[in-house]
Amino acid sequence: METSFYETNKAVSEYLLFHYGTAEDLLLNGVGPKEALDFPSRCGELHKGLELNRNRALDLGCAVGGAVFAMSREFSEVVGIDFSHALIESAQRMANEKEVAIPIAVEGELTRDIPVSLPNTAHPDRVQFEQGDAMNLKPELGQFDFILMANLIDRLPDPASCLSGIHNFVNDNGIMAITSPYTWLEEYTPKENWLGGYLRDGSPVRAHDTLIALLDERFELLDSRNLPFLIREHERKNQYSIAQATIWRKR
Ligand SMILES: C[S@@+](CC[C@H](N)C(=O)[O-])C[C@H]1O[C@@H](n2cnc3c(N)ncnc32)[C@H](O)[C@@H]1O
Repeated sequence: METSFYETNKAVSEYLLFHYGTAEDLLLNGVGPKEALDFPSRCGELHKGLELNRNRALDLGCAVGGAVFAMSREFSEVVGIDFSHALIESAQRMANEKEVAIPIAVEGELTRDIPVSLPNTAHPDRVQFEQGDAMNLKPELGQFDFILMANLIDRLPDPASCLSGIHNFVNDNGIMAITSPYTWLEEYTPKENWLGGYLRDGSPVRAHDTLIALLDERFELLDSRNLPFLIREHERKNQYSIAQATIWRKR
């Protein structure tokens, strides 16, 4: 079977840089969209300003853990779950070592090593990382005051099925934040399971509407907003995307 992108060294290096890199590491001579930096911190703050107990938080599809550490500022316990063994190992390494050296792409085969480190505000003693499957969460995880799913749903084989059971893991009045650029790809999600991005009976189906249809019974939609982010591929190439964040309160 083909190795998933999220198990590769390229993914580990790109995500460590995405989650922990500074503006100087990410932008060539400071050129680029600064509003797209610090995406994991901005995701980890999507509960801000909302009335909420801040005991337990969960980041599903946490990759190398940037948002988990952001949430550890406010929550007493934060669990990060990702399907990729390699990304979870790197998240755990950040918790243990606080600073690691990573190779980042410069041009072609050329790389250079840079240090990336945990922000001073992170509480590694409050975080727990585990490899797991968002499509098959164990009831033993318990319930959370805040669940974040950042750029996960368009990487799942059946996002509607994942969302159909998620209320079981949210405390009453708890908050869930879903961000996604809705980049539907058959490589990850068979077309019949896309939440949007196609015509049904001649009418466009959009993910935002499908999310409301799927979640409305259990969750109230509090807000929808744009969240730009930048993933650096090499010195002169970045992916600029605009995720949509939807914020939900469990009924
Ligand atoms: C586009 S990345 C987003 C990572 C991170 N949340 C962020 O915003 O930077 C998608 C993540 O979802 C993870 N993932 C894919 N399928 C998953 C599944 N079934 N369960 C848990 N995580 C999964 C991938 O390993 C990857 O880390």
